[in-house]
Amino acid sequence: MGMGYIGLPTAALLANRGYQVHGVDVNHHIIDTINRGEIHIVEPELDIFVHSAVKSGSLVVHIRPTEADVFMIAVPTPFHSDKVNEITNSPIPNVDYIVDATEKIAPYVKSGNLILLESTSPVGTTEMMANVLKKKGVDINTVFIAHSPERVLPGNIMRELIENDRVVGGINDKSTAHAAEFYRDFVEGEVLESTAKTAEMTKLAENSFRDVNIAFANELSIICDDIGIDVRELISLANKHPRVNVLSPSCGVGGHCISVDPWFIVNSANGVAKIVEQARRTNDYKADWVVEKIKKSALKFERNNGFRPTIACMGLAFKPDINDLRESPALYISEKISHLLNVVVVEPNIATHDSFHLVPYEQGLQADICVYLVAHSQFDKLQLKAVDLDFCGLKEL
Ligand SMILES: NC(=O)c1ccc[n+]([C@@H]2O[C@H](COP(=O)([O-])OP(=O)(O)OC[C@H]3O[C@@H](n4cnc5c(N)ncnc54)[C@H](O)[C@@H]3O)[C@@H](O)[C@H]2O)c1
Repeated sequence: MGMGYIGLPTAALLANRGYQVHGVDVNHHIIDTINRGEIHIVEPELDIFVHSAVKSGSLVVHIRPTEADVFMIAVPTPFHSDKVNEITNSPIPNVDYIVDATEKIAPYVKSGNLILLESTSPVGTTEMMANVLKKKGVDINTVFIAHSPERVLPGNIMRELIENDRVVGGINDKSTAHAAEFYRDFVEGEVLESTAKTAEMTKLAENSFRDVNIAFANELSIICDDIGIDVRELISLANKHPRVNVLSPSCGVGGHCISVDPWFIVNSANGVAKIVEQARRTNDYKADWVVEKIKKSALKFERNNGFRPTIACMGLAFKPDINDLRESPALYISEKISHLLNVVVVEPNIATHDSFHLVPYEQGLQADICVYLVAHSQFDKLQLKAVDLDFCGLKEL
């Protein structure tokens, strides 16, 4: 269920490993694309896996589920854009896609089936899924229900699906054991057995760990800017300590994992998740801080030169060398300043964008001020002018 960044590579891998896979998605464009043997996401080697699976007939995608031995749910888990937790003033996770997918498979679930939730989920979601099945008439004592969070790195998915260690947690011991046996069939990493709740929290803790550590680097970057210290030099010196490993500052944190999942902890922690919450707010604030820095630089340029500068935003994606714009701070910053200043945008990894007229890198370089937001490999540190702004560590490339 869900033929996106996680569901499609998993389906294609299993289909190439001898499983008959029936993919399901709600998006007709995605269904048609995959059934032609093509892909709709950028991921190395995925096209080869999908093409061979579709050609051999072991992967077919439909709008509806069918009877199966194993059901896997890999649908989105964003947060509600219009609701806020009143106690913690934080976003509320949206598990509607999981509920919908679970209700859709319910009529096809029969005794002995294994139902797996792979979506990153708030603690308690696997139990909730079991209750949805129960309400829809499934005897949950006769099926196996478990959560196994996905921890692959986009750009490396086909390898990491096999090589990464996996945590598997069922709603009871027999579900855990059955699910672990399934994963051991294609995972070469260790398959670690736990409970559903612990498996859910493991994934949230992993992503919060990253967010908290990036927030520390981003906070340092703001402090250093204020007192006139080069933060990247500072971090490289601090990291010479044998037990210190400060991460790199950036213009914020994006993607639909690290910038979203820590809120799942905050939302369920009744005000106790203070570090996790502050990290989220610090990383979000960093993007607003960057906007202010750009505005100030533009004003200074105008004062010195007597005309308003053109600003080139270099990069829109949420990290280098990908085309994924979800929750991207670079996109947020570019949108904000484009309302105030003369802006051109360079994003070498996408052809068009609804809000921006994208220009080639060489054309962006002609702008009065280049603002480097994402350290794409095409961008060259030697091109930096004195007035340019580097928020992504281009100098380190
Ligand atoms: N992308 C990653 O790198 C990554 C890594 C680890 C975990 N995750 C988690 O995996 C889950 C899926 O993420 P993704 O990146 O694959 O999302 P995605 O948006 O790329 O794909 C999800 C797909 O599910 C489809 N869908 C939505 N509702 C559906 C329904 N009711 N039935 C069937 N299909 C439905 C959508 O059309 C979409 O194609 C999320 O919980 C995410 O947090 C993602």
